[in-house]
Amino acid sequence: MIFLIFKVKITGEKTWIFFEANGRPPEIDDPRVIWFVGNVEDQLPTVKIESGPKLIIFDLDVYEPTVFAWRFLCPYLHSGDLVYFDEAYDFDERRVITENVQKHFELETIGFTHTAIAFKLGRRIAINADDACNNLELPIC
Ligand SMILES: C[S@@+](CC[C@H](N)C(=O)[O-])C[C@H]1O[C@@H](n2cnc3c(N)ncnc32)[C@H](O)[C@@H]1O
Repeated sequence: MIFLIFKVKITGEKTWIFFEANGRPPEIDDPRVIWFVGNVEDQLPTVKIESGPKLIIFDLDVYEPTVFAWRFLCPYLHSGDLVYFDEAYDFDERRVITENVQKHFELETIGFTHTAIAFKLGRRIAINADDACNNLELPIC
């Protein structure tokens, strides 16, 4: 199992300084943990996606990087994989779920809190060529 962790350093007036470590990721002594520092749009395409069961945790909050990550990962996902959305009821992540995730797979809700939902992916649903996936130059999911 590989944990992929993305982190973006936000500059400007709205710099987030919580748990700030000068841009250095935590030193976690576990060979399964790999840090990819930077925007998910730049980093995710550099990741070697291995076959096998997957658990994907979406916690980017914002629509654009979340839909990018979903569209990128979608072709690699299979029935039985688990996907978790940490802000599933907020506008941005909910939009990715309603406009993409539930159009691409049958979903079984396996858990939820007042903010988050975890789905088990079921059968892949065929989509037509006009689907929003085509808006990005990524593999059509
Ligand atoms: C709610 S925080 C979650 C962080 C982490 N999962 C945690 O629980 O501590 C959302 C994170 O998404 C990051 N983020 C937002 N847009 C991003 C992007 N385009 N690429 C990479 N990270 C991004 C933000 O910097 C922020 O750290």
